[in-house]
Amino acid sequence: MRLTKLKLRDFRNIRRLEAAFEPGFHVLLGCNAQGKTNLLEAVYLLATLRSFRGVGSAQIVRNRQKAFFAGGLALGQAESDIRYYWSAAQRKLTVNEKPMRRVADYLGTLRTVVFCSEDALLVNGPAKSRRRFMDLLLTQTQPGYLELLHRYTEALRSRNALLRHDSPDLAMIDSFTRELISNGEKLIASRRDLVKKLTPLVRLGYRKIAAKPEDASMAYAPSVRDDFSVDLANSKAREQRYRTTLIGPHRDELKLILDGQAAAQFGSEGQKRTIAIALKMAQADYLAGIHGSPPILLIDDVMGELDAERRAGLMPLISRTGQALGQVFMTCTEENWSGDLAGNLHHWQVEEGSLKRMD
Ligand SMILES: Nc1ncnc2c1ncn2[C@@H]1O[C@H](COP(=O)(O)OP(=O)(O)O)[C@@H](O)[C@H]1O
Ligand SMILES: [Mg+2]
Repeated sequence: MRLTKLKLRDFRNIRRLEAAFEPGFHVLLGCNAQGKTNLLEAVYLLATLRSFRGVGSAQIVRNRQKAFFAGGLALGQAESDIRYYWSAAQRKLTVNEKPMRRVADYLGTLRTVVFCSEDALLVNGPAKSRRRFMDLLLTQTQPGYLELLHRYTEALRSRNALLRHDSPDLAMIDSFTRELISNGEKLIASRRDLVKKLTPLVRLGYRKIAAKPEDASMAYAPSVRDDFSVDLANSKAREQRYRTTLIGPHRDELKLILDGQAAAQFGSEGQKRTIAIALKMAQADYLAGIHGSPPILLIDDVMGELDAERRAGLMPLISRTGQALGQVFMTCTEENWSGDLAGNLHHWQVEEGSLKRMD
């Protein structure tokens, strides 16, 4: 899968940009605050319709403007001309000039995996970061997952709104409880299955990049212990006290484990960073396995931060993607490592929101 063209207007500090990209490795060089991360953010946004910086679209619109545009030509099984226009009043997404009304129909048109400083949240952040990791991957690989998640979230929201009342309507609560359980059970089954398949990939990825070969693994820890309806019934008294739904996939955890211990509490900074990267490598491998072609890799500054040994571990994944007809976009302030990459290397200079080809 690759992006052959990118077109941006009023996207962060990028006023106007049009670029064509060949297959291979694209190194985006530039000083600080020139727009390198913004460019990767734009490609990621085209793939997911959200920012990896965890901010809303309003912040992406260039200062003092009202709207941004992001468009591109994605080449997978077919060619897709993607056009996304966003303003506070209106958003419009088309593929080959056909309006996309449902996000679920669109996701998968462009597939990316990003390596960025925010990845640290996968280990150090709240459980929500890890639920989002599972959900994003399931959304990209399992048809119907996003709708399921929406239905669950809607039922949860309505149920919680009722629980906040002083004398809630019990019949109404029951009807949302049924909705919660039927969708929730499917979410749990999907997440359980995903973690089972992903764990060996994480273990392998970790081994490749770790200086010392600790055993990395994951464990899915659903909030539901046994049976969703039984657990929910048992939590009724506490639910009334806290006036909110205390059990369900919205409280799930994904445990990251190093040599049998929780990575977040017991891991060193280096180990935590390694397991975060291993998760992303696993994500890329998993997507490549399912779709038959690797996702586009977006690597933000990460290479420069890694020592030579860890970099060498990440290199096979990057090389695999950059060869064949895949693509890798990598940002850095100084290029001191890309000698390790073979063939198909393209250099770009990023300066004050503009992109210039260097070779
Ligand atoms: N909405 C926005 N409008 C205009 N400029 C922005 C906006 N958001 C961020 N910027 C600017 O973008 C620059 C940072 O770009 P970034 O891609 O993070 O830099 P780097 O090249 O270091 O990765 C900063 O100068 C910042 O002020
Ligand atoms: Mg940056």
